[in-house]
Amino acid sequence: MHDILPADVGYWQMLEKTAEAVLNSYGYSEIRFPIVEKTELFLRSIGEVTDVVEKEMYAFVDRNGDGLALRPEGTAGCVRAVVEHGLLHDNPMRRLWYRGPMFRHERPQKGRYRQFHQLGVEAYGVAGPDIDVELILLSRRILQQLGVATDLCLEINTLGSVDARLAYRQRLVDYLSQHVDQLDDDSRRRLQTNPLRILDSKNEAVKAVVAGAPNMLESMDEASKAHFAGLCSMLDAAGVTYTVNPRLVRGLDYYSQTVFEWITDSLGAQGTVCAGGRYDGLIEFLGGRASQAVGFAMGIERLISMMQAAGSVPATNAPDGFVVAVGEVAQRQAVLLSERLRDQLPTFKLLNAAGGGSFKSQMKRADRSGARWAILLGEDEISQGTVAIKSLRAEGEQVVIPQSELIAHLAAKN
Ligand code: HAM
Repeated sequence: MHDILPADVGYWQMLEKTAEAVLNSYGYSEIRFPIVEKTELFLRSIGEVTDVVEKEMYAFVDRNGDGLALRPEGTAGCVRAVVEHGLLHDNPMRRLWYRGPMFRHERPQKGRYRQFHQLGVEAYGVAGPDIDVELILLSRRILQQLGVATDLCLEINTLGSVDARLAYRQRLVDYLSQHVDQLDDDSRRRLQTNPLRILDSKNEAVKAVVAGAPNMLESMDEASKAHFAGLCSMLDAAGVTYTVNPRLVRGLDYYSQTVFEWITDSLGAQGTVCAGGRYDGLIEFLGGRASQAVGFAMGIERLISMMQAAGSVPATNAPDGFVVAVGEVAQRQAVLLSERLRDQLPTFKLLNAAGGGSFKSQMKRADRSGARWAILLGEDEISQGTVAIKSLRAEGEQVVIPQSELIAHLAAKN
């Protein structure tokens, strides 16, 4: 878990603003739901034998004896909220987004944190691959606008319908059972619990066995194949470059049909910056009326590392003006003058040299703040009803003007 310090916050704000503008342009609405949910929600939706639930969830029993957990991801909570508030009744084709902290007790390393942040997007009620394509295009547009798209590759796959997936699972188990002696402990355990995950094992010996495994796409029913073919042809038409990775299975149980990930080599081992897919069965499973669903989430920390490496520079938060006031009377007047300025020039960023000090020390603070102008109030200015303005970033004489002209003067410069 980490702090986000003022020097980095600019990147977060830049990312949030950019993503929000793109999401608005596609007609998605923001939803906010709690960080804590019933543990059972995650067990049921993500799956009891996934790493996220088995090993990584911050689950606890509260004072009432209720089992609660810090959310490890957003999809489950989003569906819970949608079902609980009947959001699909008046608009069955809801398009939603959210962002915020997620929690997984993973082994920390670069790009992998225990509190991390996601920007998640979910679209409900559309069966066709057109909405899958919309989400991929939307994610690409955000990545392009953040200046990181050139370093990313899109991988896609299909897990087929729930029935196709179950049938494939059996074929896979039959095949892998003949090679148990070549599997590592983790894969042997998964053979009983979550065999599809063996497909993306990083163990070389396991990879060699997996290379000969039955092909998921070939094992699929016609409707699933048609969905995937539709997806590919629309991506082609939209000029999206992608790779079909038959080993892409995702680590959460709720997926069926389309899955996708945006991946980079530039972040080391944690190269997936955006991942998602279709999860048509989940809404009904969690008590809602059956409805299709598809979504993705981006890892904000990973995206920000890429933005920094790409040399993106967020807007600075330096003030425009810094009020230097020497003496008690001037200090009191400075507070009132600053408020008048903020009333009339709300976009002008103004810092007040609160705390007083000598002229020299206040000027030093003004300079360090990065402000463009120092607005000076001393005894002379107070007695004459004037104010002095000095540029801190460019050469030029200090000008002295009546206080009544200050706002017009600064407005002209701003
Ligand atoms: P996920 O693949 O578990 O999917 O996470 C999505 C993204 O969150 C990852 O690709 C990664 O960028 C980021 N992420 C995950 N764990 C960490 C971590 N420990 N530290 C830093 N970043 C991390 C989901 O969470 C699904 N809910 C996505 C989804 C939405 N599918 C459908 N709708």
